[in-house]
Amino acid sequence: MIYLDNAATTLQKPYAVAEAAQRAIRKMGSPGRGGHKSAMLASETAYNCRELAAELFNVPNPENIIFTMNATHALNIAIKSLARQGTRVLISSFEHNSVTRPLYAIGAKVSVATSKLFDPEDTVRAFEDRLGSAELVIINHTSNVFGYKLPIEKVASMCKNAGIPFIVDASQSAGVLNIDYTALGADYIAMPGHKGLYGPQGTGILIASGGRTLMEGGTGSNSRLPEMPDFLPDRFESGTHNMPGIAGLAEGIKFVKKLGTAEILKREQALIKFAADGLSQIKDIKIFRSENPENQTGVLSFNIGSEPSELVASELSKRGIAVRAGMHCAPLAHRSAGTYEQGTVRISLSVFNTKFEINRMLDAVEVISKNLNKIQK
Ligand code: ALA
Repeated sequence: MIYLDNAATTLQKPYAVAEAAQRAIRKMGSPGRGGHKSAMLASETAYNCRELAAELFNVPNPENIIFTMNATHALNIAIKSLARQGTRVLISSFEHNSVTRPLYAIGAKVSVATSKLFDPEDTVRAFEDRLGSAELVIINHTSNVFGYKLPIEKVASMCKNAGIPFIVDASQSAGVLNIDYTALGADYIAMPGHKGLYGPQGTGILIASGGRTLMEGGTGSNSRLPEMPDFLPDRFESGTHNMPGIAGLAEGIKFVKKLGTAEILKREQALIKFAADGLSQIKDIKIFRSENPENQTGVLSFNIGSEPSELVASELSKRGIAVRAGMHCAPLAHRSAGTYEQGTVRISLSVFNTKFEINRMLDAVEVISKNLNKIQK
């Protein structure tokens, strides 16, 4: 199989990730729940993973690295710490359901900084125009559908000047773009462990300095108290940790640190250009590509004429090529790009993809595009 669905989960991981997860299953107990060897090994492994993440994201204290199940879990903690019913929240027009659904569920008053795809200046303008009444800002670092890199640094400084708290959704950027928590000054940064950080599914990180708990329970600390500890990371980490996941995640982060996000981005952008150039030679293809390649990461959406995106993805799947189609859990992004009805076919890369794989995908798209009228719909 040629796997081009890395925005959902990176499938190919560094070998050390699976090895570490397996070792954790065999050797580790519960971190913070005892002084015996297997509990201590788990504690050390968890702390090591926090340190690696703290170095990668320039977080001064590793205890500000909170382990979560995924980015959605991290975003829920962040959003529910800062927003209540009626809170005026300004969001970008490329947010995922993991932002919009929690806001809807709590009854926040959401306004959207609607801006054009791949137009950072327009995005900055849209935030400037609507910032006045906002009590909280949430911005996606990179669109999971289009790979559009939003100007988060500019929006961050706008928020800081206005004294408005802000949350960054780094679901598609962690491990691909440089993220500097200290320089950004964000209140929260949420990310998955299983995408660009090459960890196992079931892992995520929230960078936080406090907030409201989403879930309460045992932490192995301050056990006589009826309430959750107020110190980090314990405040947000009730229940037994996902040690196979965290051990694997530590290896994934080591891999990213060794290669460097600049190199990872360079490789993915070069391959996306190759894919976009190839797709643009095929009849009836509409591609969503930034005029300035710097504004796009390793994600590219396209359609074949007005054919349903799901049909194209299913034909690709029959030919051994894994992509994702439809809404990608981000209907707002599709509204912004005018693809709400059709959705898009999305290819999303990891550092393990090759030109050979992209060529196979291009050949398959060409064949599908020629034969779509013969395919039973
Ligand atoms: N949000 C993930 C994606 O874009 C799952 O596929």
